[in-house]
Amino acid sequence: MKQRYLPALVFVCALAVLAGCGKQDSHAAATAGNTEYVVGADGAYAPFASENEQKELVGFDVEIMQAVADKAGIKIKIVNTPFDGLFNALAQGDRDILISTITINDQRRQTMDFSEPYFVAKQLIVLPPNSKVAKFDDLKAMKIGVQSATTADEAAQNLVGKNSPSVKRFESMPLAFQELEGGGVDAVVGDNGVVTNFVKNNPGKNFRIVNDPGFPKEYYGIAVKKGNAELLAKLNHGLEQIKADGTQDRIYKKYFADEKI
Ligand code: ARG
Repeated sequence: MKQRYLPALVFVCALAVLAGCGKQDSHAAATAGNTEYVVGADGAYAPFASENEQKELVGFDVEIMQAVADKAGIKIKIVNTPFDGLFNALAQGDRDILISTITINDQRRQTMDFSEPYFVAKQLIVLPPNSKVAKFDDLKAMKIGVQSATTADEAAQNLVGKNSPSVKRFESMPLAFQELEGGGVDAVVGDNGVVTNFVKNNPGKNFRIVNDPGFPKEYYGIAVKKGNAELLAKLNHGLEQIKADGTQDRIYKKYFADEKI
């Protein structure tokens, strides 16, 4: 290489290093030592995670996560993150941990690692008061509202076909429920906890819930980046302790006193 190119080369390398540093800093995720782990949770998902008047996240997932972190001896910060951006944020290293009623399944296991389960759930169907729907199969010729990239989305696609226009995908459950109210969809399918919470809190709307026994049980896990065994072990240790000392039960009863699945 000719000598006169050297300064330019040094300059370009310095820029690259700086850009690399900038990127590191903007990454919220923790790397080592006495760090604060950044946790992603969808904050439009009461009673698991929603914003209170002070814009703080509150709910079942938030309390479980905090209790686990306390027992695990780690510091965390929970950041409101839309559900359809969660998996990517974990893969990119912008979040260290996800807690967001994420159902453990083999497809997701390919890209992330899950803790032991912390909640058992299943899908429910929400319908307007006058709907004749009695089972999931009855939705075949109807417009089905789901939150995108969820297990409900997958179930709806399995029912009516992958690219069927009758599956209406929403970014959040509140948007799907809003569409049900407006008549834009004939039914919404979603996790039991969020569905029963919505119906209970909107008594005037007289929505019906159908519990189709064909839906399988789903197990929620806390997710970490694939291969982050050290953090996962800490989380599992924390979970084990909150299950053993009654903390998990206490939080469950606070939010789901009369939930049956
Ligand atoms: N359990 C379902 C799934 O994993 C729904 C999750 C939606 N959760 C949320 N916080 N928006 O696909």
